[in-house]
Amino acid sequence: MTAILILHGPNLNLLGTREPEIYGSITLDEINEKLIALGKELGVEIKCVQSNHEGTLIDALQDARTWASGVVFNPGGYTHTSIALRDAIAAIGIHVIEVHLSNVYAREGFRHTSMISAVCKGKVVGFGWRSYILGLRGLIELLG
Ligand code: DQA
Repeated sequence: MTAILILHGPNLNLLGTREPEIYGSITLDEINEKLIALGKELGVEIKCVQSNHEGTLIDALQDARTWASGVVFNPGGYTHTSIALRDAIAAIGIHVIEVHLSNVYAREGFRHTSMISAVCKGKVVGFGWRSYILGLRGLIELLG
């Protein structure tokens, strides 16, 4: 069975209470439940991981190479700063889809730069929790 990692970066564990006017009031557990349900519907195994630590996210990406066909990744604030995450994505050789709940291009200038976009297969921004759903559906389509 095809397996996909859903990887959430820093502060996304606070969804539900974190700046709800920007990120909505849905919790991370609720997003994960929706993704797991979609995976069941489409016959894909889904594993969800969240970490506030850059090194743990890198470990999860490297580990995904051994069992997953692709990754849906919201790196949170590390999107804009982390060359190490970019290198990890480039190194693992499986499709990674970058997702963001908010439309980062309608926000502060520092959010307009992504260190990882150029090494990702695709990107979804601005659809709230639905960004993850669209990213997962797109990844599954790509994997055929
Ligand atoms: C985010 C956007 C980032 O700029 C921010 O640092 C986050 C969340 C999003 O999903 O919209 O933590 O990745």
